[in-house]
Amino acid sequence: MLEASRRWRREGLSIGLVPTMGALHAGHLRLVEGACRENDRVVVSIFVNPIQFGPGEDFDHYPRDPQRDAELLAKAGVDGIYEPTVAAMYPPGSSTLIHVAGVSQPLEGQARPGHFDGVATVVAKLFTAVEPDRAYFGQKDAQQVAVVKRMARDLDFPVEIRVSPTVRELDGLALSSRNAYLTPDERKAAASLSSALRLAAEAYAHGEGKPDRLRQILKERLEAEPLAQVEYAEVVNPETFIAPGSLAVLAVRFGRTRLIDNHDLAKVFPG
Ligand code: PAF
Repeated sequence: MLEASRRWRREGLSIGLVPTMGALHAGHLRLVEGACRENDRVVVSIFVNPIQFGPGEDFDHYPRDPQRDAELLAKAGVDGIYEPTVAAMYPPGSSTLIHVAGVSQPLEGQARPGHFDGVATVVAKLFTAVEPDRAYFGQKDAQQVAVVKRMARDLDFPVEIRVSPTVRELDGLALSSRNAYLTPDERKAAASLSSALRLAAEAYAHGEGKPDRLRQILKERLEAEPLAQVEYAEVVNPETFIAPGSLAVLAVRFGRTRLIDNHDLAKVFPG
């Protein structure tokens, strides 16, 4: 990839990178669309990054469909797909991890120890391989966005981090490759995440600013759903991921599937 992107750079062309783990859905394609609009050349990376999965997480079962991904990306008009192997990304002896202190510690960081070290490390390596002018991430993984922004700033990567709004199903469920794991009953129940966020946003718009009350609104709606096991429901600052703030963040399990979602309560909930 380095060769193609060096050539593009020499030709004075701008490069957009969309990092993914494959199993592409409309949310990824929205990122690709933005990248194609804003750059002369677009690279999509597909790499299921083993070091961001904890023991007992779904690395082995993570959905993979390289042929379908390639067809979707060809249709979308991308200029390159970067699909390194695990051995190429982490040759034997690799022993460096990037740890972003602070923002990678609460919430997802606590629930998934080491996850953000894996994300920050692979994203830094992708930035080095592709040398993008802009890189595209989805707002659904809001804490990941904050970690990547901090990492890019701290390590002086000359890349602009662009963030696209979450793409949702008609009932509000945020698109995620992991939605494929849900049983039909769990799928119905999973609409409770967006419905909790909508209720909290409505309360906020009507003047409810007390963090405890907003947390309670989120939890009550989620706990009304028998299949939902709430891991956290908090209202935090979108840069530090600690309270106080106006970003409502949720992590909820449905059976063996763990879903996350978020919404800035200062904005109207879409749809
Ligand atoms: O959001 C993802 O798909 C992954 O965490 C990323 C950014 C591609 C890094 O592996």
